Amino acid sequence: MGILNTSHSYGFISILFHWLMAIILLATFLLGLNLKDNFQNYDMVLMLHNSLGILIFILAIFRVCWRWLNIRPEPLASKLILIKLATLIHILFYIIFFVMPITGYLLTNLQGDAVSFLGTQLPELLERNRDMKRIVHSIHDILGNILLAMLSLHIIGALYHHYWLKDNTLRRMNFFNKIKANQE
Ligand code: HEM
Ligand code: HEM
Repeated sequence: MGILNTSHSYGFISILFHWLMAIILLATFLLGLNLKDNFQNYDMVLMLHNSLGILIFILAIFRVCWRWLNIRPEPLASKLILIKLATLIHILFYIIFFVMPITGYLLTNLQGDAVSFLGTQLPELLERNRDMKRIVHSIHDILGNILLAMLSLHIIGALYHHYWLKDNTLRRMNFFNKIKANQE
C-alpha cells in the first residue's frame, strides 16, 4: 500500500485518517451522550468531550488538505443515485467535523463553563446566556442525531458493497485486506 491514493485505492494516510477519526468521533459522541445525566463526573467528562471534539476539528483541517491534494479513488460500480448519496454523506461528514466542535465550543461558554483542551483553558468567546444556550444546545443535539443517521447509512452502504455486491469498497479502506485482483 502506498502513502498516496490512486484512482482505484486509498493510500495509507487516508486510511489512517479515516479510522483514527472514526474512533475519536465515536468516543466524542458517546461522551456527549453521557453528559446528559452526569452529575458526579460532569467536569471530567466535559473536559474529555471538549478535548476530543477539538482534536477532531484540528485533524479535519489536515484531512481536508490531504483530500484536496490527492486523487480520489473512483467509486466502484453501483446505482448512480447510491453513488451520489454516498458522496453527499462524505461531504456532510466533513461539514460535521467543523460545525459540531464550533457549536460545542459556543455551547460550553454559553452554559458558563470554560473550554478545556487537555487541561489548557481556551479563551471564552461568549458570555453565559441561558436563552442562547438552549438554542445552541438544540443545534448541537440535532447535529448529533443527523450524524448518527449519516453514520448508519454509511455503514449500511459499506456492508452492502462488501456482502451483497462483493466488491472492493470496504477492502480498499482497510489496512490489512488484499484487494481482489479481478476488480479495480
Ligand atoms: C465532532 C465533535 C462532537 C460531537 C460528535 C459531539 C456530540 C455531542 C452529543 C451527542 C451531545 C449530547 C447532546 C445532548 O445533550 O442532547 C453533546 C453535548 C455537549 N457537547 Fe458535544 N460534540 C462534539 C464536540 C464538542 C466540543 C468540541 C465541545 C466543546 C468545546 C462540546 C460541548 C458539548 C456540551 C457543553 C454539551 C452539553 C452537555 C450537557 O448536556 O450538559 N461538544 N455533544
Ligand atoms: C464516525 C465514523 C466514520 C466517519 C466519520 C467516516 C467518514 C468517511 C468519509 C469522509 C469517507 C470518504 C473518504 C475520505 O474522505 O476519507 C469514508 C469512506 C469510507 N468509509 Fe467511512 N466513516 C466512518 C466509519 C466507517 C465505518 C464504521 C465503516 C465500515 C463499516 C466505513 C467504511 C467506509 C468505506 C468502505 C469507505 C470508502 C468508500 C468509497 O470508496 O467510496 N466507515 N468514510
